[in-house]
Amino acid sequence: MSSNENSEENLPSAQGEGEHGSVERADNPFADPGLPAHRPRVQDIDERAARRSERVVAFLFTLSMIATIAFIASYVAFPVDKIVYIFPIGHVSALNFSLGMTLGVALFCIGAGAVHWARTLMSDVETPADRHPIEADAETKAQVLADFKQGAEESGFGRRKLIRNTMFGAMAMVPLAGVMLLRDLGPLPEKKLRTTLWAKGKVLINMNTNEPLRPEDVAVGSLTFAMPEGLEEDAEDFQTQIAKAALMIVRIQPADIKDKQEREWAHEGIVAYSKICTHVGCPISLYEQQTHHVLCPCHQSTFDLSDGARVIFGPAGHALPQLRIGVNGEGNLEALGDFAEPVGPAFWERG
Ligand code: FES
Repeated sequence: MSSNENSEENLPSAQGEGEHGSVERADNPFADPGLPAHRPRVQDIDERAARRSERVVAFLFTLSMIATIAFIASYVAFPVDKIVYIFPIGHVSALNFSLGMTLGVALFCIGAGAVHWARTLMSDVETPADRHPIEADAETKAQVLADFKQGAEESGFGRRKLIRNTMFGAMAMVPLAGVMLLRDLGPLPEKKLRTTLWAKGKVLINMNTNEPLRPEDVAVGSLTFAMPEGLEEDAEDFQTQIAKAALMIVRIQPADIKDKQEREWAHEGIVAYSKICTHVGCPISLYEQQTHHVLCPCHQSTFDLSDGARVIFGPAGHALPQLRIGVNGEGNLEALGDFAEPVGPAFWERG
């Protein structure tokens, strides 16, 4: 016995047309009129029409895949600032328009394909579901399983491989659009965290006077802040660069410098250290000239500038990086290279 026959037997309209049905309806104007008689669709009786519908559904899913590829291509091809005129909208961003259109088409085609599939090829037999107590007894579970299997069979998942495969392809590709948008999180830092503007021959510029620093400008006990020559305060990337390159300069009696490398990297007791705290990156600004300790105001990490800027107190995990300095032919203090290690916080754990 076919499912159609089964279903038609159960239709209220069929039941209602029994010997009592018409009498009941005539007596009771509120009686359930039942469902209209089932009419098979053209696809149910004509295999060529069914194949035509199958091709339409596959076409829509394929179109969705093409639209997703176009979305990715648009993202790569159109610059952010390209404006185009599109009638009747007017001037719009080419990138936004193309992303919206292609993603819209990709999603619409999946939906349209699924609806067309359901309306033309899946079983359209109406099956009454009588009310019953809400409990999943063994019989109900078996029935649900059987219905599921029947639904899967009638939907043609196994039989109509073209639809199934193109639908899986479309569903698998649409998320790629979201993956592409992850690129908007920004470019990878690459080696930018490892390097600063300091390089061999870069003159130290006093951040207060904007003039090159000379050894005689740095008095014992003073704290001076410096930046590399060529870095302008109104430059677009000034904050990015100074956040890595900011220097603090102090002069210590060479005999008081305990660390051998620090003494070699200094010039006549003038030492240059990164100003960026290695805890979470606050700028260090407090210097105690008797002890040569510098204190970070954020969480009180304390570094000993006479001993390689090692941490003597607080949460910072690493010594401050030292910049090797010398004097150029004009008598100005200059860098003899970049920092030997990345400056700032947390990079140590990441790198
Ligand atoms: S940022 Fe310097 S101690 Fe926390």
